[in-house]
Amino acid sequence: MIGRPRRHEPECESTQLLLGPDDPAGAIATTDHQTAGRGRHGRTWVEAPGTSVLLSVLLRPPPGRPAPQLSLVGGVAAAIAVEEALGLAAQIKWPNDVMVDRRKVAGVLAEARDGVVVLGIGINVNQMRDQLPADTRVAAASLRTIDGRVHDRERLLDSLLAMLDDLYTRWCEDGLDAVYEDLGARDFLRGRRVTADGVAGTAQMIDRDGRLLVSTGSGLVAVESGEVVFER
Ligand code: BTN
Repeated sequence: MIGRPRRHEPECESTQLLLGPDDPAGAIATTDHQTAGRGRHGRTWVEAPGTSVLLSVLLRPPPGRPAPQLSLVGGVAAAIAVEEALGLAAQIKWPNDVMVDRRKVAGVLAEARDGVVVLGIGINVNQMRDQLPADTRVAAASLRTIDGRVHDRERLLDSLLAMLDDLYTRWCEDGLDAVYEDLGARDFLRGRRVTADGVAGTAQMIDRDGRLLVSTGSGLVAVESGEVVFER
């Protein structure tokens, strides 16, 4: 069961650092503010205090289930929780961004270490426009800048945890097939011109192993991981 025990710190460097191999599977860490929030590719994740859902989950995936797929599982869970809060469709920009209206509202970071995976999810909830980072490659938004409402962060966290528990259980049993439909229906990159891990072309789909298939002048290329730059 994902969500227990819960460790909450009013402030910390990063919730990713509050969990480790001594914690039980499903343990979570949350905070109201991170002073050194971690993003993918060594980047920082910055938020104004008290505005976001900042969550890390300790997971012990069964043998044969690739940890990088957890970015997609976490992304689908976050996208569905955001959809429930907003009443609007959300997409997943492979491999780890949750988008609404072509803006990033959430990011997912799966870090494997010491035989466990720490899955981090950050959702921009109540930031005003001037509290969001302006210098990101993909424009950022919060739920509040999208619908003008202040959202209950604990309620959003509850809904995220319930969704993650369900999807993670299914993924442990059946792998990515179990979440493939939910993922494919929210594929932000499909049909867009992209450059991914040095491969330029048109994104076709996410395959059943979680790779991005890109159609190039020399055929279909499966991209395993990396940063995607897309044309609008
Ligand atoms: C990204 O988009 O680059 C991933 C961002 C992940 C941010 C979350 S916030 C909770 C957890 N703690 C961290 O330091 N990072 C993740």
